[in-house]
This record gives sequence, structure tokens and C-alpha cells, in this order.
Amino acid sequence: MNSPSPVEYKAKTFDLSGLTGISDKTLETHFKLYKGYVANTNTYNARIADLLEQGPITPDKMPVYSELVRRLGFEYNGMVLHEWYFGNLKKGGSPDPSANSAFRKAAEESFGSYETWKSHFANIGKLRGVGWAICYQNPANGRLSNHWISLHEEGNVAGFTPVVVMDVWEHAYLLDYAPSDRPKYIEAFFANMDWEAVESRLAR
Ligand SMILES: [Fe+2]
Repeated sequence: MNSPSPVEYKAKTFDLSGLTGISDKTLETHFKLYKGYVANTNTYNARIADLLEQGPITPDKMPVYSELVRRLGFEYNGMVLHEWYFGNLKKGGSPDPSANSAFRKAAEESFGSYETWKSHFANIGKLRGVGWAICYQNPANGRLSNHWISLHEEGNVAGFTPVVVMDVWEHAYLLDYAPSDRPKYIEAFFANMDWEAVESRLAR
């Protein structure tokens, strides 16, 4: 019996340029890296499908199989997190949502004030190491929570919806800022926020 071939992901294109404090060169480099995650996700899916097609995963296949499966989580999350990240930026964005925005209300309900949410989120972005700051919404109760993700895959909360997604790997800002100036990049990230995109992610 022929197994179905694995889904082939296509890299999305993002109409992003002319941002405040994040250069076009950084964006171009970053789009290339993103495409690498899409390509690797496809490669690993195909290689795993090949192994499954060949029959049982015998002990001699286990090392290769294990490594492919472990890498798949890294590549998949690298792919989708970049899509959430580019998707919450836009030219002409604004550092804060409007006074009556649903996101601001959700932040107030979850953290007492929007300002508390924002400083907490920005501080998570300053943690040492490469990874992501992500504000998720728990679909069970609507609450927001902020998390640190190591690499792309450690710390994501299963079933929660990413709402605000900030890449703090050094490749996200190194062409524009020194490694020690990550706070300046975080400020630039906020300056380009697309709050409408953020709100479209919230559960109604
Ligand atoms: Fe990145």
C-alpha cells in the first residue's frame, strides 16, 4: 500500500519593508532563514515518510529516525513562529494598541494593566540566550500569559494560541544593533506592531 506523501509547505511571502529600527537588510536575511525552516520541515517530513515506507523502525534505523524526529520539532516551530512573527509587524505600526482595543482589555484582565503586560513581555525578551518571547491566549479561559521559548521548541504551551510573537535570536537584530543592545531592538519591534493582526488572533 502506498502511503500518502507528506504535505509540502510553501514559504509565505510577507509584504514587509521600511520598518522603524529594523532594516530591510535584516528582513531580507530573516526571510531567507525562514525559508530554510520551511525547506527543512519538508525534507525531514519526506525522510521520515521514506523510513516509514520501508517498514518497521528496526534498531539499526533508530538513531537516524530519532534524530529526524527530534529535529522536526525544531524546524516546524522555526517555520510557524516566524510566520506569526512577521505577521504581527507592519510598516506604520504603533507601539501600543488603542485605548478601547480588545488586546488591551485582555491584558488588563490578565495582568492588571496593559503597562504591566508590556514591561513583563519586554523583559522576557531580554532573557539571556536565543529564543522567543511569546504572549499566548489560553483558549479555555481567554487569559493571556507571557512565556520564554528556548530555541524554537522548548516552552511552547500546547493548545495555547500565540498572540504576540517576538523573535529574539540575534539574527533578528544583529545587522542593526550590537548584541548588548537587544533592548533597542525590542523597542523597534514594538514600534512596528500590527495590533489589528494581534487582535485577529484573539478568540472572539
Ligand atoms: Fe528568526
